[in-house]
Amino acid sequence: MKFIDNVRDRFSLRNYDQRQPEREKIEYVLECARLAPSAVNRQPWQLIIAQSAEAREKLFACYTREWFRTAPVIIAVCVNNDEAWTRPSDGKNHADIDGSIIAQQICLAATDAGLGTCWVCNFDYDATCRALDLPDNVHPVVLIPIGYPAKDVATPTKSRKALSQIVEWR
Ligand SMILES: Cc1cc2nc3c(=O)[nH]c(=O)nc-3n(C[C@H](O)[C@H](O)[C@H](O)COP(=O)(O)O)c2cc1C
Repeated sequence: MKFIDNVRDRFSLRNYDQRQPEREKIEYVLECARLAPSAVNRQPWQLIIAQSAEAREKLFACYTREWFRTAPVIIAVCVNNDEAWTRPSDGKNHADIDGSIIAQQICLAATDAGLGTCWVCNFDYDATCRALDLPDNVHPVVLIPIGYPAKDVATPTKSRKALSQIVEWR
């Protein structure tokens, strides 16, 4: 697949088929994730794959939209603030940036594998830390449901600003 087609094809899937995505496909996605760049190559990531009914149920309780309950697998992208690089000039910790990069790499790899995903950040933060049993220095960045689209899902058209609105050539 050409890269531009992959980028165009990805969309936020909010209705999943109940069949489990093949293990090899999830492993392909995770290998693509592993190769993501990170600040000073610190790789401060922890990816928790909620696949069992019990593990998913805990996360469904942290983001209570009905559609979320259709997810056959959820990848919780977490970052360790102590492992991440901090910029000396202003003290900015880059854990969230590293987490965002690996998350989008997961979403694009999933598209390439014929699977759908959706970024979910509007979760209950404290409940999610508890559900994932995270130590104090590890934070959830995004929950990514991943799986096949349900049968009736149509690919939406993208609503985006024009390049002229976001680009300034100097
Ligand atoms: C940082 C971030 C947080 C998001 N959080 C949520 C969320 O909590 N729930 C949700 O349904 N979609 C969430 N989304 C999905 C966006 O609504 C979606 O990406 C945007 O509307 C563009 O649509 P598209 O992904 O289909 O191209 C999030 C996306 C990003 C990048």
